[in-house]
Amino acid sequence: MSKFRSTDWFGKRDKMGFIYRSWMKNQGMPEDMFDGRPVIGICNTWSELTPCNAHLRDIAESVRRGVLEAGGFPVEFPIMSLGETLLKPTAMLFRNLASMDAEESIRGNPIDGVVLLTGCDKTTPSTMMGAASVDLPTIVVQGGPMLNGKYKGHDIGSGTNVWTFTDDLKTGAMSYAEFTEAESCMSRSPGHCMTMGTASTMACMVESLGMSLSGSAAIPAVDSRRKRIAQLSGRRIVEMVKEDLKMSKILTRSAFENAIKVNAAIGGSSNFVIHLTAIAGRMGVPLDIEDFDKLGSKMPLLVNLMPSGKFLMEDFYYAGGLPAVIKQMSDVLDMEALTVTGKSHKENIVDTGNIYNEAVIYPFNKPLIEEAGIAVLKGNLALDGAVIKPSAATPELMQHRGRAVVFENIEDYHARVDDPDLDIDETCVMVLKCVGPVGYPGMPEVGNMTLPKKILAKGVTDMVRISDGRMSGTAFGTVVLHVSPESAIGGTLGLVENGDMIRLDVAKRVIELEVPEEELIMRRGRWAPPPLTSERGYVNLYVNHVQQADKGADLDFLVGSSGSDVPRDSH
Ligand code: FES
Ligand code: MG
Repeated sequence: MSKFRSTDWFGKRDKMGFIYRSWMKNQGMPEDMFDGRPVIGICNTWSELTPCNAHLRDIAESVRRGVLEAGGFPVEFPIMSLGETLLKPTAMLFRNLASMDAEESIRGNPIDGVVLLTGCDKTTPSTMMGAASVDLPTIVVQGGPMLNGKYKGHDIGSGTNVWTFTDDLKTGAMSYAEFTEAESCMSRSPGHCMTMGTASTMACMVESLGMSLSGSAAIPAVDSRRKRIAQLSGRRIVEMVKEDLKMSKILTRSAFENAIKVNAAIGGSSNFVIHLTAIAGRMGVPLDIEDFDKLGSKMPLLVNLMPSGKFLMEDFYYAGGLPAVIKQMSDVLDMEALTVTGKSHKENIVDTGNIYNEAVIYPFNKPLIEEAGIAVLKGNLALDGAVIKPSAATPELMQHRGRAVVFENIEDYHARVDDPDLDIDETCVMVLKCVGPVGYPGMPEVGNMTLPKKILAKGVTDMVRISDGRMSGTAFGTVVLHVSPESAIGGTLGLVENGDMIRLDVAKRVIELEVPEEELIMRRGRWAPPPLTSERGYVNLYVNHVQQADKGADLDFLVGSSGSDVPRDSH
């Protein structure tokens, strides 16, 4: 058997070998576990504070079984888990911190290959980024979505219906008792959000990149086939170590191009842009924000899931899941791209990839929407770019000129949005400043600002909204996001004043502030950066090193890889 990196721990015949083996033996491991077999790290983002990942201890057992069956030595370890719902001020602030945890935990330990157990939004990109900077054989096992929400005889979707229920509560269409009842109806099983929100988007991203077993993305968390795929992944990672099938052999430029195209077809989250860019940065694969538009925007929408459409992940799984989408896209994807199976996408879907429900998955030549991918906007308001998700927007608003109503920060928005005297109507453009990576800090999902009560009362459900923040992948609307450079570091967005005219033209990819350059120069002279709350700790590190959204919002010193060389001994 060839020598794996774990041999530099367990294969030593000296004091250090004693130390490395002896303390592991306190867990009851017999001698032959240290005979040079592949050691497989099971990197677990389990946490009761990350409800979407709370079942991952269970999934880890299935992975462990598979590793043992294939002759490997499984070792499960926890890393920082990021829950989207509880963690303040936003899980995104800590994505890069969790990636550092994953990276150093993998590199510093006797691990030859790693299984990443992921679920909630940030747990996928953070572990992928960290693992990419080590570049060992790696496979992802997603936790799977929750079962469809069921409320009063209707299917309801995670997140997506939170926004509609919140509007209903505001207008009185829903009572508070109904509101709390709906909470338990929405989240009624283990798993992550079952809309095509960011978690489902990330699960599909992983599969389209070739980083998980084919067909795994959509399996509900509680479906027994979720455990089956986990066990098979455990077996497969042992083989991958023997084949030295490292992450960098799979994550080529071609894999990233495939992922961008698939993301358009599934109506994936706008957050995909930031996370994929950050992963590519770790892998050293060139990927520009323009690539998302060039490769993705002409792709058709094939998957009819909330928030772009009407169904949910459980329906998507029964309809054929991602293999069916990949098969439909065979002519536009690089089907020869290598995956963790050791085979290409083309080989993976030979016996799968059928559509079983054309109301959920549309054929490529009869799509739901002709051009669905994320559009990248530029103009004086976003010199380095901004994004909009056309499939979740209102077609009539995609070309719009309106008067700016400015909120200086999120507190200002909350304080004034429902003020009956606020000078706003549905033709206005809502502008929210100071919610970018540095400004918040951490770039929260507040870009889909709820509309003013008096406008909702008229039955209006969408308005053009612009910010340097993100929006939840479960949200919808004509929302311009990720404006770079952000307002808090002096971007033009920070100079917008009430009454300015703003022009959005998605077809032309333009976002323009119609204020003369001389006036902007004067405003810039008067501009002062907002006070930041970052005296010490990780937040201080973050605001001083975070890159802008168009670069993936990674910390500048984390871009790239340090490889998997074994560090010095510990004693
Ligand atoms: Fe965890 Fe949506 S809150 S996936
Ligand atoms: Mg989210």
